[in-house]
Amino acid sequence: MSDLEQTRLVRTELPGPRSAALMLRKQAFVSPGVGTTMPVFATRAAGGIVEDVDGNRLIDLGSGIAVTTVGSSAPRVVAAVQAQVAEFTHTCFMITPYESYVAVAEALARLTPGDHEKRSALFNSGSEAVENAVKMARSYTGRSAVVVFDHAYHGRTNLTMAMTAKVAPYKHGFGPFAAEVYRAPMSYPLRDGLSGAEAARRAIGQIETQVGAGNLAAVVIEPIQGEGGFVVPAEGFLPALADWCRTNGVVFVADEVQSGFGRTGTMFASETEDVVPDLVVSAKGIAGGLPLSAVTGRAEIMDAVHPGGLGGTYGGNPLACAAALAVIETIESDGLLERARQIETLVRERFARVDDPRIAEVRGRGAMLAVELVQPGTGEPDAALAKSIAAHAHSQGVITLTCGTWGNVIRFLPPLSISDELLTEALDIVVAGLEVTR
Ligand SMILES: Cc1ncc(COP(=O)(O)O)c(C=O)c1O
Repeated sequence: MSDLEQTRLVRTELPGPRSAALMLRKQAFVSPGVGTTMPVFATRAAGGIVEDVDGNRLIDLGSGIAVTTVGSSAPRVVAAVQAQVAEFTHTCFMITPYESYVAVAEALARLTPGDHEKRSALFNSGSEAVENAVKMARSYTGRSAVVVFDHAYHGRTNLTMAMTAKVAPYKHGFGPFAAEVYRAPMSYPLRDGLSGAEAARRAIGQIETQVGAGNLAAVVIEPIQGEGGFVVPAEGFLPALADWCRTNGVVFVADEVQSGFGRTGTMFASETEDVVPDLVVSAKGIAGGLPLSAVTGRAEIMDAVHPGGLGGTYGGNPLACAAALAVIETIESDGLLERARQIETLVRERFARVDDPRIAEVRGRGAMLAVELVQPGTGEPDAALAKSIAAHAHSQGVITLTCGTWGNVIRFLPPLSISDELLTEALDIVVAGLEVTR
């Protein structure tokens, strides 16, 4: 790890003067459509700390939205990228291929659920990979419809905006959206009280009556929803959907962009219920911060696409592939799946000591955990509370993110390289935020 000191330090008001000055430049020259969670400008990050331009050291509970799972500038990633950047930066895999892309595909075949023959295609962003999974499913099935779920988030490109549920800020004013995207009810145990089997029956019933299996190319689902509120479907929901897809020749796509790559204590969240998706979408944590995404799936589905039908100038860029191989080695050599499970235990134990009726649920898995906040009595989502707890945490130097369809969920996505001490300190600050807002 770099020599960045692993302690929290708030030495100026947040934002400090240098960040405030940079914010003015941002406002003058950067599109306001690109928002800011915390108006502090980063200079270095490692372990569990992000350092800003004013010398403040913030505890990182966000990992740049679940990306730096192995830690920012993790040593093996730095070494691999430095070595690669000196050799060649780009040839375009579609022009003259290179080994590291193939090695990433081999690793993905080994790491994704199921021992069938698999192939991968690499892209740049989560959205781009989700779009390509839909292209593959359509090509294989010869059908066009795609089913997604309430609270889903799949990205901001035109097709993935259609697949994303929440209108503000992701879709507002940006239509018309892609056709043939249908939404089914999600299993959301806190709010629907249904078992996994009941919720699956409800969803499948709606798909059968409103879409028809014969028209359906793919069901695309996040095994644990990300932006939608870290919703963990009731046990049995995912296996029932996957079974129905298999019976009906529908491609079952797991969007593991946020839940994958060790984040939940297994390599992929689908593994928890032994679900074997036909296609798995990876991004975020796959390459330690370099832009890379992948679709990995059954050979017969991937082989259905005509040669030249997939790709892109930068997809599977050599720097990103070098980083991904280093990320995989880090997860496997450093026992990071176990570390994710330890983080879950620590966070759950901390919240078990908080007796507050405004916390409706602590949920998630591994280092992908959240608390949903409500108004006691009515159970109505309390977005204002989530916002003020996050603001409190930010003012104390803790990077904290919210999420959820109603914005009433605080999520914890620490890098797995964070120390217990930093994590405990950050959680104490978040919990103190509950008291401040009482
Ligand atoms: C589940 C899921 N799918 C897709 C995406 C889109 O990924 P990207 O922002 O890399 O396009 C995200 C991003 O948050 C995500 O969480």
